[in-house]
Amino acid sequence: MNKTIYFIANWKMNGNHNSIREIEKVFDFFKKNTINKFKKIIFCPPSNLLSSFSTKIKSKLIDFGTQDISKINLNYGPHTGQLSAKILKDSGANYVIIGHSEKRLIDEDFKTIKEKINIALKNKLKIIFCIGENLSQKKMGLALKVLKKQILSSLDTKRINAKNLIIAYEPIWSIGTGIVPSNNYLDKIFINLKKFLKEKYNVNSPILLYGGSVTADNVSILRNISLISGFLIGGASLKSKSFIKIIKNYFK
Ligand code: PGA
Repeated sequence: MNKTIYFIANWKMNGNHNSIREIEKVFDFFKKNTINKFKKIIFCPPSNLLSSFSTKIKSKLIDFGTQDISKINLNYGPHTGQLSAKILKDSGANYVIIGHSEKRLIDEDFKTIKEKINIALKNKLKIIFCIGENLSQKKMGLALKVLKKQILSSLDTKRINAKNLIIAYEPIWSIGTGIVPSNNYLDKIFINLKKFLKEKYNVNSPILLYGGSVTADNVSILRNISLISGFLIGGASLKSKSFIKIIKNYFK
């Protein structure tokens, strides 16, 4: 079976109005080169750029997501500084990143993550749910325990299915460090995650991504892990050249 491979660009706190050029170059590449494989390209720029980018690039080839939504369960209202799921959906987002370790550090606890996930689903935004252990948890052999806790405390069994949820495993010690786990380590993690999601959520074919220092070089190794359905890419997604190279090398 041909499964869809996801390449999600997490731009974090980077980009300006001229950065549309990077997305246009990716778009041009796909218009000209038919990589004849099932793939999904999603850009998650900062929310101030979302609306203009998604208006300029209207194509099935490229989709858009947001990096956050408000935990306030309202479309509009007197909430200074907040961007509701509805406002972001109307700005062109079809996906939302929730639970990223960089957000967990600032203001996303388990309860907030759960609330945001439910609000996102209500607004028909698909979830890119990030989970991952830190270095000391890894060293103590606690990775799987941590991941299972992150999943159980945030995902509601009644609402979650393989269509509205993408899980991105992002070991914190790998994000932005250039260090990527071995395929053995990842195999073990992904096999266990799949089993766990089947047991607890009755999801048979979950969409599982890897994130953390993905580059055009290491993607050729990472692609050998059969349970991985794609990547959440930070640094290497900012420039079209390195992002396109990742996709090319994956399908090589
Ligand atoms: P990185 O970031 O690719 O720069 O390591 C990944 C992420 O944080 O999503």
